Amino acid sequence: MKILYVTSEAVPFCKTGGLADVAGSLPPALAKEGAEVAVVLPLYRTVKERFGDQLTFVCYDYVNLSWRHNYCGLFSLEKDGVTWYFLDNEQYYDRPELYGYLDDGERFGFFSRAVVRMLSHMKFWPDVIHCNDWQSALVPVYLKDDGVREERYRSIKTTLTIHNIEYQGRYNPYILGELFGLNEGWVRDGTMLMDGDLNLLKGAILCSDAVTTVSPTYAEELRSPYFAHKLDPVMRQCGFKLSGVLNGIDQALYDPSTDGRIAHRYSAEDLSGKARDKALLQQMLGLREDPELPIVAIVSRLVAHKGLDLICEVIHDMMELPMQLVILGKGDQKYEEFFRWAGQQYPGRMAVRLDYNEALSMAIYAGADLFLMPSRSEPCGLSQMIAMRYGTVPIVRETGGLKDTVRPYEAWRDAGNGFTFANYSSGDMLYVIREAVYLYTDYPEVFGRLRQRAMSADFSWGRSAAEYLRIYGGLLDRSWPEEAAPETVPVEAAAAPEETGPEEAMPVEAAPEAASAKAAPKPRKAPAKKSAKAAGEESAPKAKKPAAKKAAGTKTAKKRTAAKGKDAAD
Ligand code: GLC
Repeated sequence: MKILYVTSEAVPFCKTGGLADVAGSLPPALAKEGAEVAVVLPLYRTVKERFGDQLTFVCYDYVNLSWRHNYCGLFSLEKDGVTWYFLDNEQYYDRPELYGYLDDGERFGFFSRAVVRMLSHMKFWPDVIHCNDWQSALVPVYLKDDGVREERYRSIKTTLTIHNIEYQGRYNPYILGELFGLNEGWVRDGTMLMDGDLNLLKGAILCSDAVTTVSPTYAEELRSPYFAHKLDPVMRQCGFKLSGVLNGIDQALYDPSTDGRIAHRYSAEDLSGKARDKALLQQMLGLREDPELPIVAIVSRLVAHKGLDLICEVIHDMMELPMQLVILGKGDQKYEEFFRWAGQQYPGRMAVRLDYNEALSMAIYAGADLFLMPSRSEPCGLSQMIAMRYGTVPIVRETGGLKDTVRPYEAWRDAGNGFTFANYSSGDMLYVIREAVYLYTDYPEVFGRLRQRAMSADFSWGRSAAEYLRIYGGLLDRSWPEEAAPETVPVEAAAAPEETGPEEAMPVEAAPEAASAKAAPKPRKAPAKKSAKAAGEESAPKAKKPAAKKAAGTKTAKKRTAAKGKDAAD
């Protein structure tokens, strides 16, 4: 199966957000499953500066778009079993930033047109072109346009992944022909028209053979107006070809036992390194050095859909709890100002860094105890998964990928791998923060087991890659992997048991056992320990019945839900 993955950013070449992480890891994972994969992205200045000496010039050609006739260079690089192609046009891409220019429409119109134009210069003619977000949304539209004239374009199937429906590529319909070289029929029949605007994402949703988004819950949410930014009727109409495939993370890159970016390495079995990372974090950020207090961390862009209003509303109630708070991120001025001010009110207990700083973010994932993500909407979210890998237990709102990756803590059966709340309400958020903080301070062993469950969750790309391959296979009327496996997997590799992953999708919490069993044949004492302790410890929190706040923190899940329902009704 030949897949061409089209993206406007990919790690390690260029990154502004989560799309880059996905585009950097999914294609190699598809290749590992046996597909032939190439990725194509623009040759930005930053790519040329950092990877210029590794690029091979393939050829150049000219791209016709409306009245423009523009040069397009094709460069390539082999990495992780994937061919990475870069499309060169200095006028469009030799700029300091990836996006944010007045002519972004023209820049990515050119990109999409050039992808189709340059297909015949690439190493294969693809079975499937997989596009991402509005920047490559015109590819399926151009393929339909060209397919009218040439059969070979009709043979290509298309998949579109929506990483965040908020960004749609909206323009004045007047420029359709001038900028994108398309016939006005595309807006007249409504295919690319929404709310009076030319809408590139809508066009792609309608023209693609399959549409995916980055978590099953977000796929459901996109059918409702609250989440879909006016595209909900289109999402409902296209429900038959819509699916949600949960993103993974690069588990080798984010591994606390090998990560060179953190000061002290550790594992779920031996957390002494994490304690030292915590002390170091407290020193670095001017927090009181106290192992007893949990550090609650937020690493986020400071923008509205991240749910920061909830935190602003109850910041003082939060700081009444025995905890420390760390905030790292930058974004909207109102949040920056608020958190700067709040940080000054709690010296030694709250640290605010208004910055995008990868090194510090790793120190926080390693050193913190709890990770707060109360997003209003979150298509998938990667940081909660990274936090869990580093044993930093997430507190999230049940939306999108947060809901699909974090299972709520249930005291009565010692289950779950984080804390969750459903309603977009600061009271509900405070309630679970309290539950988490008091579990940490009063029942360290129970918290320890929760932390271990978080660390052992499986977020590897293998399972998602297999799901994408099944989707592509469905489009091509081919089953996957049965048919392709013998052809593409070398004999030795096929013999190795670890390469033949299970066919069935595993629930997130079931997978780690299989994964760890594969990786290290250590004695598996965890389950025995868990069941032995479960009986003894479980009753401890309930029997103790501490002060009012603590009692709230150890309610059973059932009671909690009931209480929430009541709050909501009030
Ligand atoms: C977008 C979404 C984020 C998701 C990422 C990768 O940035 O907002 O939730 O994790 O794309 O798909």
